[in-house]
Amino acid sequence: MRLNIAIDGPVSAGKSSISDEVARRLGILHLDTGAMYRALGLKVLRDGTDPQDEEKVVATCRNLGVSVCHREDGQHTFVQGEDVTGLIRSPEVSMAASTVSRYAEVRKEMVRIQQQLAAETDMLVDGRDICTTVLPNATAKIFLTAAQEERARRRWLEMKEKGQETPFEEVLQALKERDEQDMNRPVEPLRRAPDAVLVDSTDLTFDETVETILQIVEEKRHG
Ligand code: C5P
Repeated sequence: MRLNIAIDGPVSAGKSSISDEVARRLGILHLDTGAMYRALGLKVLRDGTDPQDEEKVVATCRNLGVSVCHREDGQHTFVQGEDVTGLIRSPEVSMAASTVSRYAEVRKEMVRIQQQLAAETDMLVDGRDICTTVLPNATAKIFLTAAQEERARRRWLEMKEKGQETPFEEVLQALKERDEQDMNRPVEPLRRAPDAVLVDSTDLTFDETVETILQIVEEKRHG
């Protein structure tokens, strides 16, 4: 049977890095769906389109030609054949991704691609609507979160390590705004699926979080 693991959670809950490691330990691929919304956010900004302009954003999404491939160093994301992996992590693209992901037609298209990819191979998929919409029949469903201040602290540290010196308050504020937008949009807002297991990593180390999730997966697979 196809092994599909679904992980949802808010901004900077550690989904990407934790998902990478869990997928590696399980020997399956990890699809980072946020990268696909980020690719659209980047294209919209590059075109000079206002992310609030739903009609234009939807048109851009239809012609986006977004694709992903998995390499030794993780997922690479492409827009019309161009590798945009290194360009989609800026704060501007983060906010644009959050804005363009509010539109129903955008979500429909992204979900279609994600479901197609997950049907082809065993995969761990992380995002905001994976447990609820993309993979409602996943083998294991997890809602990974942490306290808001702790998530902001992790994001601030991550940025600092990359040489981006941003005041903590600014990082916290941007995170709050994105949380607010992701949780209150009318279409598929971020919420915990009733059957998703809650993992709160506020007081857990990286390794402890990975072990907790692997244990949940084991229980769901064999328990
Ligand atoms: O996970 P990441 O922070 O990279 O996602 C960027 C944005 O894309 C999120 O703020 C969210 O608005 C959107 N997103 C989404 N559904 C997903 C993954 C991401 O709406 N499955």
